[in-house]
Amino acid sequence: MKDTTKTALRAFAVLGVAFSVCVTGLVAADGKSNPIKDAMKKYNSAPKGTDPVCKKASSGTATKEEIKGMLEAYTAMAACKPPQGDEAKWKKLCAALVEATAALDKGEAGAADKYKAAVNCKGCHEDFKPKKK
Ligand code: HEC
Repeated sequence: MKDTTKTALRAFAVLGVAFSVCVTGLVAADGKSNPIKDAMKKYNSAPKGTDPVCKKASSGTATKEEIKGMLEAYTAMAACKPPQGDEAKWKKLCAALVEATAALDKGEAGAADKYKAAVNCKGCHEDFKPKKK
């Protein structure tokens, strides 16, 4: 099997698990819990003066636990419908992010660079994050 095929299969497997998690979560949540915001708050942002996990992951200083938690959070996020924007593109961006985080988790060579490219805040927010009213 080609490497790219393997990678794609792995991403789909992860998304499959996430889908069931997210659907249950959304039913129970009635708008209060939002896996996308949870992932953003917990892993992509941090209190002033501390580094968010996404930054640590890019520089290779995140712990195993942080990476595992982040992988779960991104996986849940990937299975959710974005508040706005094209769903097919959303799935692609999220799959890349989940893929890269899974590579980090496995300690694959080049994973940090892959992750850095996938966690492009502006690239995703421009399409999918609602503008402040
Ligand atoms: C793959 C897509 C994607 C990427 C990459 C991404 N975000 Fe987000 N982010 C979103 C979406 C979608 C929302 C809006 C969620 C909502 O309003 O329901 C959001 C919202 C946020 C919020 C607001 C959360 C809240 O409670 O309202 C913060 C803070 C944030 N992102 C930080 C970041 C930072 C920092 C990065 C880069 C390191 C980043 N995000 C990368 C998709 C992404």
